[in-house]
Amino acid sequence: MRRAIYPGSFDPFTNGHLDIALRSLRMFDKLTIAVLKNTTKKFLLSPDARAELIREVVKPYPQIEVETFGGLLADFCRDKNIYTIVRGLRAVSDFDYEHAIYLMNNRLWNHIDTVFLMSSSENSFISSSIVKEVASLGGNIEDQVPPEVFRHLQKLYQGKTP
Ligand code: PNS
Repeated sequence: MRRAIYPGSFDPFTNGHLDIALRSLRMFDKLTIAVLKNTTKKFLLSPDARAELIREVVKPYPQIEVETFGGLLADFCRDKNIYTIVRGLRAVSDFDYEHAIYLMNNRLWNHIDTVFLMSSSENSFISSSIVKEVASLGGNIEDQVPPEVFRHLQKLYQGKTP
């Protein structure tokens, strides 16, 4: 069985993330979406809330499981015996960061490889941080996130918009 891990912060999970996850199912039989837990980054949603939302979104796809992970991604891959990481690339500007992560993960566990999928044109402008900012200011992000995420953000910001 061909397995892969799709790691990320997913704060929140966007249509861009969903597109990468579903396209990767053409290459892999089983995908583990791994939601980052421990970090110095400040998140809007808790790891469990992010994971639960993604579970709702990917319910129609039994080939996808969703887990949270802390510590090193390379250790998580090793523990699960999975050798391939999937990451999305939106633009050249993503490349340096992704290249650095790829090299580091490979150094930490040299069995790991990373498959990069280019974002499709309709999703290449979507970013979780911009989605959060726009949603918090009352802008419409309905076309950029799955309906479950949209409803969650709507509830979160209800009455808080300027
Ligand atoms: O969605 P993001 O924030 O771009 O995802 C980044 C992620 C989760 C892939 C990366 O931060 C990560 O793997 N963090 C876990 C800690 C780790 O293994 N660090 C070394 C490689 S960067």
